[in-house]
Amino acid sequence: MRSEADPHGASSAVDDIRRAIDVAGGSLRFDEFMSLALYGPNGFYTGVGRAGRRGDFLTSPEVGPLFGTVLAAWIEAEFARLGRPGDFEVVEVGAGPGTLARSILAHWRATSAVGHPYTAVEAGALQRAAHPEGVRSVGVLEDRADRPITGVVLANELLDNLPFRLLVFDGRWRESHVTVAPSEPGRLLEVLVPLADPPSWLPDAPPHGARVPWQQVARSWVETTLGSIAAGRLLCVDYVTPRSAELAATPWRAWLRTYRGHERGGHYLSDPGGQDVTAQVALDQLPEPDVVRTQEQFLRRWGIDELVEEGRAAWEAAASAPTVAAMKMRSRVREAEALLDPAGLGGFLALEWSR
Ligand SMILES: C[S@@+](CC[C@H](N)C(=O)[O-])C[C@H]1O[C@@H](n2cnc3c(N)ncnc32)[C@H](O)[C@@H]1O
Repeated sequence: MRSEADPHGASSAVDDIRRAIDVAGGSLRFDEFMSLALYGPNGFYTGVGRAGRRGDFLTSPEVGPLFGTVLAAWIEAEFARLGRPGDFEVVEVGAGPGTLARSILAHWRATSAVGHPYTAVEAGALQRAAHPEGVRSVGVLEDRADRPITGVVLANELLDNLPFRLLVFDGRWRESHVTVAPSEPGRLLEVLVPLADPPSWLPDAPPHGARVPWQQVARSWVETTLGSIAAGRLLCVDYVTPRSAELAATPWRAWLRTYRGHERGGHYLSDPGGQDVTAQVALDQLPEPDVVRTQEQFLRRWGIDELVEEGRAAWEAAASAPTVAAMKMRSRVREAEALLDPAGLGGFLALEWSR
Protein backbone atom coordinates (compact mmCIF):
# COMPACT_ATOMS: atom_id res chain seq x y z
CA MET A 1 0.00 0.00 0.00
CA ARG A 2 1.33 3.46 -0.84
CA SER A 3 1.49 6.20 1.71
CA GLU A 4 0.55 9.78 0.82
CA ALA A 5 3.94 11.03 1.98
CA ASP A 6 5.96 8.87 -0.39
CA PRO A 7 4.62 8.08 -3.89
CA HIS A 8 6.97 5.09 -4.15
CA GLY A 9 5.31 3.33 -1.25
CA ALA A 10 8.15 3.41 1.28
CA SER A 11 6.93 4.61 4.63
CA SER A 12 8.63 7.30 6.67
CA ALA A 13 8.84 8.43 10.27
CA VAL A 14 6.24 11.12 9.48
CA ASP A 15 3.84 8.35 8.32
CA ASP A 16 4.49 6.39 11.53
CA ILE A 17 3.85 9.52 13.61
CA ARG A 18 0.69 10.45 11.70
CA ARG A 19 -0.69 6.94 12.18
CA ALA A 20 0.09 7.06 15.90
CA ILE A 21 -1.57 10.49 16.16
CA ASP A 22 -4.72 9.01 14.55
CA VAL A 23 -4.72 6.03 16.90
CA ALA A 24 -4.22 8.34 19.92
CA GLY A 25 -7.25 10.42 18.84
CA GLY A 26 -5.56 13.61 17.54
CA SER A 27 -2.21 14.22 19.24
CA LEU A 28 0.86 12.53 20.75
CA ARG A 29 2.78 13.56 23.83
CA PHE A 30 6.25 14.92 22.95
CA ASP A 31 8.05 11.87 24.41
CA GLU A 32 5.88 9.55 22.28
CA PHE A 33 6.71 11.65 19.22
CA MET A 34 10.43 11.56 20.08
CA SER A 35 10.34 7.82 20.60
CA LEU A 36 8.99 7.29 17.05
CA ALA A 37 11.24 9.97 15.51
CA LEU A 38 14.40 8.35 16.93
CA TYR A 39 13.57 4.69 17.55
CA GLY A 40 10.38 3.89 15.57
CA PRO A 41 10.41 1.67 12.44
CA ASN A 42 11.81 4.58 10.39
CA GLY A 43 13.49 6.41 13.25
CA PHE A 44 16.79 8.27 13.12
CA TYR A 45 18.69 5.64 15.15
CA THR A 46 16.80 2.75 13.59
CA GLY A 47 18.20 3.92 10.27
CA VAL A 48 21.29 5.88 9.39
CA GLY A 49 21.91 8.00 12.50
CA ARG A 50 25.20 7.37 14.25
CA ALA A 51 28.05 8.95 16.13
CA GLY A 52 31.48 9.23 14.53
CA ARG A 53 33.69 11.17 12.21
CA ARG A 54 31.50 10.11 9.28
CA GLY A 55 28.36 10.28 11.42
CA ASP A 56 26.12 13.04 12.74
CA PHE A 57 28.04 14.15 15.85
CA LEU A 58 31.43 13.49 17.47
CA THR A 59 31.40 11.87 20.92
CA SER A 60 34.32 11.18 23.30
CA PRO A 61 34.84 7.54 22.20
CA GLU A 62 34.90 8.76 18.58
CA VAL A 63 37.69 11.28 19.28
CA GLY A 64 40.09 8.31 19.42
CA PRO A 65 41.07 5.35 21.63
CA LEU A 66 42.29 7.46 24.59
CA PHE A 67 38.84 7.80 26.21
CA GLY A 68 38.45 4.00 26.23
CA THR A 69 41.98 3.55 27.60
CA VAL A 70 41.15 5.81 30.58
CA LEU A 71 37.83 4.00 31.11
CA ALA A 72 39.74 0.71 31.20
CA ALA A 73 41.64 2.11 34.23
CA TRP A 74 38.33 3.04 35.91
CA ILE A 75 36.99 -0.48 35.19
CA GLU A 76 40.16 -2.05 36.58
CA ALA A 77 39.80 -0.02 39.81
CA GLU A 78 36.21 -1.18 40.22
CA PHE A 79 37.25 -4.79 39.57
CA ALA A 80 39.84 -4.43 42.35
CA ARG A 81 37.37 -2.67 44.71
CA LEU A 82 35.00 -5.63 44.39
CA GLY A 83 37.81 -8.11 45.18
CA ARG A 84 38.38 -9.31 41.60
CA PRO A 85 35.20 -11.44 41.38
CA GLY A 86 35.14 -14.24 38.77
CA ASP A 87 31.75 -13.14 37.40
CA PHE A 88 32.75 -9.47 36.84
CA GLU A 89 31.31 -8.08 33.58
CA VAL A 90 31.06 -4.85 31.60
CA VAL A 91 27.73 -3.76 30.12
CA GLU A 92 27.63 -0.72 27.84
CA VAL A 93 24.23 0.73 26.96
CA GLY A 94 23.67 2.95 23.91
CA ALA A 95 26.91 1.58 22.51
CA GLY A 96 26.43 3.11 19.04
CA PRO A 97 28.71 1.44 16.47
CA GLY A 98 30.84 -0.09 19.26
CA THR A 99 33.77 2.34 19.19
CA LEU A 100 34.20 2.49 22.98
CA ALA A 101 34.04 -1.30 23.20
CA ARG A 102 36.66 -1.55 20.44
CA SER A 103 39.05 0.78 22.33
CA ILE A 104 38.61 -1.02 25.67
CA LEU A 105 39.07 -4.48 24.13
CA ALA A 106 42.13 -3.27 22.19
CA HIS A 107 43.63 -1.93 25.43
CA TRP A 108 43.04 -5.24 27.22
CA ARG A 109 44.71 -7.10 24.34
CA ALA A 110 47.66 -4.70 24.06
CA THR A 111 48.48 -4.75 27.78
CA SER A 112 47.60 -8.38 28.54
CA ALA A 113 45.21 -6.95 31.17
CA VAL A 114 42.51 -9.26 32.52
CA GLY A 115 39.65 -8.92 30.03
CA HIS A 116 36.00 -9.16 31.09
CA PRO A 117 32.84 -10.32 29.32
CA TYR A 118 31.55 -7.23 27.48
CA THR A 119 27.92 -6.74 26.47
CA ALA A 120 27.16 -3.88 24.07
CA VAL A 121 23.49 -2.87 24.13
CA GLU A 122 22.41 -0.77 21.14
CA ALA A 123 18.87 -0.09 19.91
CA GLY A 124 19.89 0.48 16.27
CA ALA A 125 20.40 -2.72 14.21
CA LEU A 126 22.70 -1.02 11.67
CA GLN A 127 24.99 0.17 14.45
CA ARG A 128 24.90 -3.27 16.12
CA ALA A 129 26.12 -4.76 12.84
CA ALA A 130 29.33 -2.69 13.25
CA HIS A 131 30.10 -4.02 16.75
CA PRO A 132 33.54 -5.62 17.09
CA GLU A 133 34.26 -9.30 17.56
CA GLY A 134 34.55 -10.28 21.18
CA VAL A 135 31.50 -8.39 22.46
CA ARG A 136 28.02 -9.78 23.00
CA SER A 137 25.84 -7.42 20.99
CA VAL A 138 22.13 -7.05 21.91
CA GLY A 139 19.27 -4.65 21.13
CA VAL A 140 17.84 -4.37 24.64
CA LEU A 141 19.27 -4.80 28.09
CA GLU A 142 17.51 -7.94 29.24
CA ASP A 143 15.82 -8.14 32.66
CA ARG A 144 18.60 -9.14 35.06
CA ALA A 145 16.42 -9.61 38.16
CA ASP A 146 17.32 -13.31 38.42
CA ARG A 147 20.98 -12.84 37.38
CA PRO A 148 21.99 -9.40 38.68
CA ILE A 149 25.16 -7.79 37.38
CA THR A 150 28.48 -7.88 39.22
CA GLY A 151 30.54 -5.26 37.44
CA VAL A 152 30.00 -1.97 35.68
CA VAL A 153 27.36 -0.46 33.42
CA LEU A 154 28.56 2.36 31.14
CA ALA A 155 26.50 4.82 29.11
CA ASN A 156 28.14 7.63 27.15
CA GLU A 157 25.62 10.15 25.81
CA LEU A 158 22.65 7.85 26.35
CA LEU A 159 20.52 9.79 28.85
CA ASP A 160 20.26 12.89 26.63
CA ASN A 161 18.76 10.74 23.87
CA LEU A 162 16.05 9.06 25.94
CA PRO A 163 12.57 10.42 25.12
CA PHE A 164 11.40 13.24 27.42
CA ARG A 165 8.14 15.06 28.01
CA LEU A 166 8.24 18.77 27.12
CA LEU A 167 6.60 21.33 29.41
CA VAL A 168 5.86 24.91 28.37
CA PHE A 169 5.01 27.97 30.50
CA ASP A 170 2.54 30.46 29.01
CA GLY A 171 1.10 31.89 32.24
CA ARG A 172 0.79 28.36 33.64
CA TRP A 173 2.66 25.15 32.91
CA ARG A 174 1.25 23.14 30.02
CA GLU A 175 2.47 20.15 28.05
CA SER A 176 3.65 19.96 24.44
CA HIS A 177 1.78 17.51 22.20
CA VAL A 178 2.32 16.94 18.50
CA THR A 179 -0.46 16.94 15.93
CA VAL A 180 -0.89 17.10 12.13
CA ALA A 181 -1.41 20.49 10.46
CA PRO A 182 -5.07 20.46 9.27
CA SER A 183 -4.33 21.91 5.82
CA GLU A 184 -1.00 20.09 5.28
CA PRO A 185 -1.04 16.45 6.42
CA GLY A 186 2.74 16.07 5.98
CA ARG A 187 3.49 18.88 8.44
CA LEU A 188 3.57 18.42 12.21
CA LEU A 189 2.47 21.11 14.64
CA GLU A 190 2.76 21.63 18.37
CA VAL A 191 -0.35 21.98 20.54
CA LEU A 192 -0.28 22.78 24.25
CA VAL A 193 -2.55 20.76 26.52
CA PRO A 194 -3.23 21.02 30.28
CA LEU A 195 -0.61 19.36 32.45
CA ALA A 196 -2.43 16.80 34.58
CA ASP A 197 0.45 15.72 36.84
CA PRO A 198 2.87 18.64 37.44
CA PRO A 199 6.18 17.48 38.92
CA SER A 200 7.34 18.98 42.23
CA TRP A 201 10.55 20.50 40.76
CA LEU A 202 8.72 22.83 38.32
CA PRO A 203 9.81 26.47 38.89
CA ASP A 204 6.97 28.79 40.04
CA ALA A 205 7.61 31.98 38.12
CA PRO A 206 9.68 31.24 34.99
CA PRO A 207 9.87 33.65 32.05
CA HIS A 208 6.86 33.55 29.72
CA GLY A 209 7.55 30.95 27.00
CA ALA A 210 9.92 28.96 29.23
CA ARG A 211 10.33 25.27 28.45
CA VAL A 212 11.74 22.34 30.42
CA PRO A 213 12.26 18.66 29.59
CA TRP A 214 10.65 16.16 31.96
CA GLN A 215 13.07 13.23 31.86
CA GLN A 216 10.97 10.47 33.40
CA VAL A 217 12.38 7.82 31.05
CA ALA A 218 15.98 8.74 31.95
CA ARG A 219 15.14 8.62 35.66
CA SER A 220 13.48 5.24 35.46
CA TRP A 221 16.29 3.91 33.23
CA VAL A 222 18.80 4.83 35.98
CA GLU A 223 16.56 3.31 38.69
CA THR A 224 16.00 0.07 36.77
CA THR A 225 19.68 -0.25 35.85
CA LEU A 226 20.75 0.30 39.47
CA GLY A 227 18.19 -2.34 40.47
CA SER A 228 19.90 -4.83 38.15
CA ILE A 229 23.39 -4.31 39.67
CA ALA A 230 24.16 -6.57 42.65
CA ALA A 231 27.65 -5.13 43.18
CA GLY A 232 29.43 -2.53 41.09
CA ARG A 233 28.87 0.85 39.52
CA LEU A 234 26.85 2.69 36.92
CA LEU A 235 28.70 5.45 35.02
CA CYS A 236 26.80 7.89 32.79
CA VAL A 237 28.71 10.61 30.94
CA ASP A 238 26.64 13.31 29.33
CA TYR A 239 25.89 16.99 28.92
CA VAL A 240 24.17 17.80 32.18
CA THR A 241 22.63 20.90 33.76
CA PRO A 242 22.41 20.76 37.58
CA ARG A 243 18.92 22.22 38.01
CA SER A 244 15.76 22.08 35.89
CA ALA A 245 15.08 25.73 36.84
CA GLU A 246 18.28 26.72 34.98
CA LEU A 247 16.92 25.10 31.83
CA ALA A 248 13.61 26.95 32.25
CA ALA A 249 15.55 30.22 32.47
CA THR A 250 17.58 29.45 29.31
CA PRO A 251 16.30 29.94 25.74
CA TRP A 252 15.10 26.44 24.83
CA ARG A 253 17.09 26.24 21.58
CA ALA A 254 20.24 26.20 23.74
CA TRP A 255 19.29 22.91 25.45
CA LEU A 256 16.81 21.19 23.09
CA ARG A 257 19.02 20.51 20.11
CA THR A 258 18.87 18.65 16.80
CA TYR A 259 21.84 17.34 14.80
CA ARG A 260 22.34 16.04 11.29
CA GLY A 261 25.63 15.44 9.48
CA HIS A 262 27.76 17.25 12.13
CA GLU A 263 25.59 20.38 11.87
CA ARG A 264 22.80 21.64 14.05
CA GLY A 265 19.55 20.41 12.46
CA GLY A 266 16.21 22.18 12.00
CA HIS A 267 13.24 22.64 14.34
CA TYR A 268 12.58 19.47 16.31
CA LEU A 269 9.30 18.83 14.44
CA SER A 270 10.70 19.60 10.98
CA ASP A 271 12.44 16.36 9.95
CA PRO A 272 11.46 13.40 12.15
CA GLY A 273 13.65 10.38 11.38
CA GLY A 274 16.15 12.60 9.56
CA GLN A 275 17.83 14.27 12.53
CA ASP A 276 18.82 13.57 16.11
CA VAL A 277 16.76 15.15 18.92
CA THR A 278 18.52 15.62 22.25
CA ALA A 279 18.40 17.68 25.45
CA GLN A 280 20.69 18.69 28.30
CA VAL A 281 20.15 16.17 31.11
CA ALA A 282 18.60 17.75 34.24
CA LEU A 283 20.57 16.37 37.18
CA ASP A 284 17.86 17.17 39.75
CA GLN A 285 15.46 14.84 37.91
CA LEU A 286 17.74 11.79 38.31
CA PRO A 287 18.40 9.64 41.39
CA GLU A 288 21.21 11.42 43.25
CA PRO A 289 24.62 10.11 42.09
CA ASP A 290 27.33 9.10 44.59
CA VAL A 291 30.08 10.86 42.64
CA VAL A 292 29.80 13.80 40.25
CA ARG A 293 32.85 15.02 38.34
CA THR A 294 33.32 16.96 35.15
CA GLN A 295 34.67 14.77 32.36
CA GLU A 296 37.94 16.68 32.70
CA GLN A 297 38.18 15.85 36.43
CA PHE A 298 37.14 12.24 35.81
CA LEU A 299 39.74 11.66 33.08
CA ARG A 300 42.52 13.28 35.15
CA ARG A 301 41.50 11.21 38.20
CA TRP A 302 41.85 8.04 36.12
CA GLY A 303 45.21 8.81 34.56
CA ILE A 304 44.81 10.71 31.29
CA ASP A 305 47.83 12.96 32.00
CA GLU A 306 50.12 9.97 32.55
CA LEU A 307 48.84 8.34 29.36
CA VAL A 308 49.53 11.51 27.37
CA GLU A 309 53.05 11.72 28.84
CA GLU A 310 53.63 8.07 27.97
CA GLY A 311 52.44 8.83 24.41
CA ARG A 312 54.73 11.83 24.08
CA ALA A 313 57.75 9.84 25.32
CA ALA A 314 57.00 6.91 22.98
CA TRP A 315 56.73 9.30 20.04
CA GLU A 316 60.00 11.05 20.89
CA ALA A 317 61.79 7.71 21.26
CA ALA A 318 60.57 6.62 17.83
CA ALA A 319 60.72 10.02 16.08
CA SER A 320 63.71 9.15 13.89
CA ALA A 321 61.93 6.06 12.50
CA PRO A 322 58.22 6.56 13.28
CA THR A 323 55.95 3.51 13.38
CA VAL A 324 52.14 3.37 13.27
CA ALA A 325 52.18 2.49 16.99
CA ALA A 326 54.29 5.58 17.75
CA MET A 327 51.94 7.79 15.71
CA LYS A 328 49.00 6.45 17.72
CA MET A 329 50.85 7.36 20.90
CA ARG A 330 51.48 10.88 19.57
CA SER A 331 47.77 11.31 18.77
CA ARG A 332 47.04 11.05 22.52
CA VAL A 333 48.15 14.69 22.85
CA ARG A 334 45.53 15.92 20.37
CA GLU A 335 42.83 13.56 21.71
CA ALA A 336 43.39 14.79 25.27
CA GLU A 337 42.95 18.41 24.18
CA ALA A 338 39.49 17.60 22.79
CA LEU A 339 38.46 15.35 25.70
CA LEU A 340 39.54 17.83 28.39
CA ASP A 341 38.31 21.08 26.82
CA PRO A 342 36.15 22.65 29.56
CA ALA A 343 34.07 24.46 26.92
CA GLY A 344 33.39 21.17 25.11
CA LEU A 345 33.62 17.47 26.03
CA GLY A 346 35.65 18.21 29.17
CA GLY A 347 32.69 20.13 30.58
CA PHE A 348 30.36 17.12 30.38
CA LEU A 349 29.57 15.43 33.72
CA ALA A 350 30.57 11.90 34.71
CA LEU A 351 27.89 10.63 37.09
CA GLU A 352 28.58 7.51 39.18
CA TRP A 353 26.20 5.47 41.27
CA SER A 354 27.67 2.64 43.30
CA ARG A 355 26.15 -0.58 44.63
C1 LIG B 1 24.28 9.77 21.12
S1 LIG B 1 24.41 8.11 20.71
C2 LIG B 1 25.88 7.68 21.64
C3 LIG B 1 26.61 6.51 21.07
C4 LIG B 1 27.90 6.13 21.81
N1 LIG B 1 27.64 5.81 23.19
C5 LIG B 1 28.92 7.24 21.74
O1 LIG B 1 29.17 7.86 22.75
O2 LIG B 1 29.47 7.46 20.64
C6 LIG B 1 23.13 7.34 21.69
C7 LIG B 1 22.91 5.90 21.31
O3 LIG B 1 22.04 5.29 22.27
C8 LIG B 1 21.19 4.38 21.58
N2 LIG B 1 20.02 4.12 22.46
C9 LIG B 1 19.07 4.99 22.84
N3 LIG B 1 18.22 4.41 23.71
C10 LIG B 1 18.66 3.15 23.90
C11 LIG B 1 18.23 2.07 24.71
N4 LIG B 1 17.17 2.18 25.53
N5 LIG B 1 18.92 0.90 24.66
C12 LIG B 1 20.01 0.79 23.85
N6 LIG B 1 20.46 1.79 23.06
C13 LIG B 1 19.81 2.96 23.10
C14 LIG B 1 20.88 5.10 20.29
O4 LIG B 1 20.41 4.22 19.28
C15 LIG B 1 22.24 5.73 19.96
O5 LIG B 1 23.02 4.88 19.16
